[in-house]
Amino acid sequence: MNRPCRKDVMKNYKIALIPGDGTGPEVIREGMKVLAASAQKFGFKYEATNFDFGGARYLRTGEVLPESAIADFKKFDAMYLGAIGHPDVKPGILEKGILLKLRFDLNQYINLRPVQLFDERFCPLKGKTPADINFTVVRENSEGLYAGAGGNLFKNTPQEVAIQESINTRFGIERCVRYAYEYTRKYSRKKQLTLCGKTNVLTYAFDLWLRTFEAVGKEYADIKTDYAHVDAITMWFVKNPEWFDVIVTDNMFGDIITDLAAMIQGGMGIAAGGNINPQGVSMFEPIGGSAPKYTGQNVINPLAAIGAGALLLRELGENQAADAIEKAVRLVVTTKIKDLAAGKMGYSTTEVGDLVVKHL
Ligand code: IPM
Ligand code: MN
Repeated sequence: MNRPCRKDVMKNYKIALIPGDGTGPEVIREGMKVLAASAQKFGFKYEATNFDFGGARYLRTGEVLPESAIADFKKFDAMYLGAIGHPDVKPGILEKGILLKLRFDLNQYINLRPVQLFDERFCPLKGKTPADINFTVVRENSEGLYAGAGGNLFKNTPQEVAIQESINTRFGIERCVRYAYEYTRKYSRKKQLTLCGKTNVLTYAFDLWLRTFEAVGKEYADIKTDYAHVDAITMWFVKNPEWFDVIVTDNMFGDIITDLAAMIQGGMGIAAGGNINPQGVSMFEPIGGSAPKYTGQNVINPLAAIGAGALLLRELGENQAADAIEKAVRLVVTTKIKDLAAGKMGYSTTEVGDLVVKHL
């Protein structure tokens, strides 16, 4: 949640940058350009420290993340991540070794994904407008299938067994659900929170989710609640996205439905997210990945990274700056950009960053 912002002393935030792989550095560069301009305009300071974690460093040194990294990051006010993922590194190594390790070890137990369509030109759904697509997904970010519980038996034999278990604790669910209720109360338009699960099949895990959701809900009489199965939610995101306000769900379902949500808001070029530890350091990122084929061409869309920068500032309590960036992004999207996809924007990566700064 937002920390109070004291305007009487000029804040000096310590920000850790992990530009990472592929187009990560290009989009973080534009994000930092916008951050610098907002600092000037809204009267705060920051010190940015660069970390070179990612595929290139791994291929060079064999090290994914040094032991000291977690302790180092705890000294920062926020983290700003470009992308992790390298075509020459086997899937899982960087994802688990960097991204998931940071989420877990820094206790970033919320994955926050605001979903907003800025211009109906960019919505693949017929007849849907910005008024119809404006919701937030609160994804549990520390448990579920992502916890890594399981293993193999008889590997590489015909009897091979693979077990991957979903871990759901009352503690983990409750803190996530409580965050979602608070978020709904504080920021949402309709004061409506939907639990997304699969109570008809995953009768252990989502029974616990549902009971926790209902128990915590007793403290939030002002919030309307409902429940939807995850498969039905994917259908309704396409047919009736206007039904949703805030959705809370587990790690795996959240991963899947937020990619679908990104598409109906215009694609990966505009989708931003935060990995949040409400009591500690949080990490903000464009969710699109490293896009190797566009690397170094100055054609990738930096708006998702710029939007992640706005989320970062909101978490630090710089609400005015966050509002201004979001407004500028909306303006650039509605009045300038030809297409949100890489290479089709009508502008280069750098020019889009400049446009946002100009409209701040
Ligand atoms: C996301 C990503 C990650 C996830 C991957 C890269 C490990 O898809 O942030 O949604 O699955 O959580
Ligand atoms: Mn994902």
